[in-house]
Amino acid sequence: MATFLQDLSPVNKGIVSCLVLYTIYWIVQYSIKLRRQDAIIRKKGCKPVRKYPHRDPVLGLDIFLENAKLLKTGGFWDRTRERYLSLNTWTFSQLLMGDRIINTTEPENIKAILATQFHEFELPPRRKDTFQPVLGHGIFTTDGKEWEASRALLRPNFVRNQIADLNTFDHHISALVSHIPNDGSTFDLQSLFFMLTMDSATEFLFGTSTAVLDGGIASERGERFAEAFTYATERIGTYSRLGKLASLLPDKHFNDSVAYVHEYVHGYVQKAVDLHKKASLSQKFDEKDSSRYVFLEHLAKAGYSEKKIQDELLNILLAGRDTTASLLSYLFYFLARRPDVFSKLRAEIMALGKDLPTFEEIKELKYLQYCLNETLRLYPVVPGNSRTAIVDTTLPVGGGADGKSPVFVKAGQQVNYQVYVMHRRKDLYGEDAMEFKPERWEKLRPSWQFLPFNGGPRICIGQQFALTEASFTTIRILQAFKSIEARDNSPLKELMTLTSAVRGGVHVGMTPA
Ligand code: HEM
Ligand SMILES: *[C@@H]1O[C@H](CO)[C@@H](O)[C@H](O)[C@H]1NC(C)=O
Ligand SMILES: *[C@@H]1O[C@H](CO)[C@@H](O)[C@H](O)[C@H]1NC(C)=O
Ligand SMILES: *[C@@H]1O[C@H](CO)[C@@H](O)[C@H](O)[C@H]1NC(C)=O
Repeated sequence: MATFLQDLSPVNKGIVSCLVLYTIYWIVQYSIKLRRQDAIIRKKGCKPVRKYPHRDPVLGLDIFLENAKLLKTGGFWDRTRERYLSLNTWTFSQLLMGDRIINTTEPENIKAILATQFHEFELPPRRKDTFQPVLGHGIFTTDGKEWEASRALLRPNFVRNQIADLNTFDHHISALVSHIPNDGSTFDLQSLFFMLTMDSATEFLFGTSTAVLDGGIASERGERFAEAFTYATERIGTYSRLGKLASLLPDKHFNDSVAYVHEYVHGYVQKAVDLHKKASLSQKFDEKDSSRYVFLEHLAKAGYSEKKIQDELLNILLAGRDTTASLLSYLFYFLARRPDVFSKLRAEIMALGKDLPTFEEIKELKYLQYCLNETLRLYPVVPGNSRTAIVDTTLPVGGGADGKSPVFVKAGQQVNYQVYVMHRRKDLYGEDAMEFKPERWEKLRPSWQFLPFNGGPRICIGQQFALTEASFTTIRILQAFKSIEARDNSPLKELMTLTSAVRGGVHVGMTPA
């Protein structure tokens, strides 16, 4: 080294010494990091997790390509489950574009990620990158302090709303029922459910419904909004799965859709904010239409900026619309194939003896709750989810030959959990885990092994809203129709957008009561 340096000019000598110093610095830093990680591994007794046996051991393209195909054809989650079964483990690691990620379906690990070690995990960076251009900064797209502020802002609105406004729902459900053919001819119930939840969510959030089910000229703008919103969210789904590759694909329709979504919502936000400004001068705002709860008006009254209100409304619309429609679609998929469940459920509903049940009466319909839970167990509308560790940490189980030892997780490492697979585990639900059997809920009291709405500080804020809307919709449909028949015998496969819906729709025929 010394003789080599003698041959160099003073400037080059400087550069070489810098490089050497930097390399030494890097090696020291790296070994400090390794020793720190090693200390954690030893202290907690971490053992390695099973590694997925890739055909492409460098990037893991084998899974990536197979997944891309399965997302187009359906069957993605069943294949994921098969991979777990063939590895004979509930936690393993694999490569995703060369990065080593961890997959788990252990209730204890999921509880750690979402609750007990909540502060050590965040949303994967990709979720923020892909969602924020459409949804801005809101409860669904942020972490840390920003998320805490959103959650605190929105929470009171949901608590108050738990005494859900059934009259508002009722108008939209009646519109849906009037679209169901009375002559028993075949139609797609799922597409009606997506219209229903769009109409009712926009009414609840903006105070003005997209009114797609009402038809007519008034709903033209609403229809265009629903289409633009659907397209934008489908694209976000694809982007978040393809990652960097997707940003290379120019998509003018996507840009136009996002622009229309923003313009449409901005119109309502501006109206509410202006109205509030005028009203606070004349103090008349509170009296206006006080029977109806409108989310937007409450945010405007609290004095938040137009941008903030718009972002939060879009976040909630995304979280609340497809999810409830998918739950209803999967439920009616089963009802159309299980006359025994249908008639037991209908008997419970008819025994109410009245058209419009109250919120409390709905909660008393036990078999209806069993059916909803059983649907969410077999077809959770958010079948998988992920988080990224922000510090070096551990998960409680999954390591070693028996999978009982803790597992080391590096800062920056992604951990995925698939509730779809967990909800079908025979060791958790019994030998009949794969069957649709609402009666199992007579005895089940699951905690972290049943997770359709997530858990911990980020648990779904709209759970009561969703279950009330789904229950009420089911009640009204079963009051109006005495039987339902499946008109399509293709095997059940999912259509993944941001959530899981029934691929091809739910084609049925119904007989009026
Ligand atoms: C069957 C219907 C629904 C299901 C299965 C469902 C499921 C979920 C799940 C799994 C999450 C966690 C997402 C994550 O953290 O990565 C979530 C979050 C959320 N949900 Fe729901 N949801 C439903 C309906 C609704 C409704 C109707 C609303 C609002 C009206 C809503 C509002 C939200 C919000 C705002 C969040 C974000 C909470 C946060 O990050 O703090 N959801 N939901
Ligand atoms: C692990 O989870 C990710 C995210 O859900 C998924 O893309 C991947 O296919 C899973 N791995 C296997 C082997 O199923
Ligand atoms: C879409 O919008 C992005 C960001 O605003 C822009 O960079 C891109 O060029 C636009 N693409 C098309 C096809 O219009
Ligand atoms: C349905 O599941 C929820 C958890 O999401 C649970 O709190 C509730 O008790 C279950 N309902 C019934 C009827 O078992």
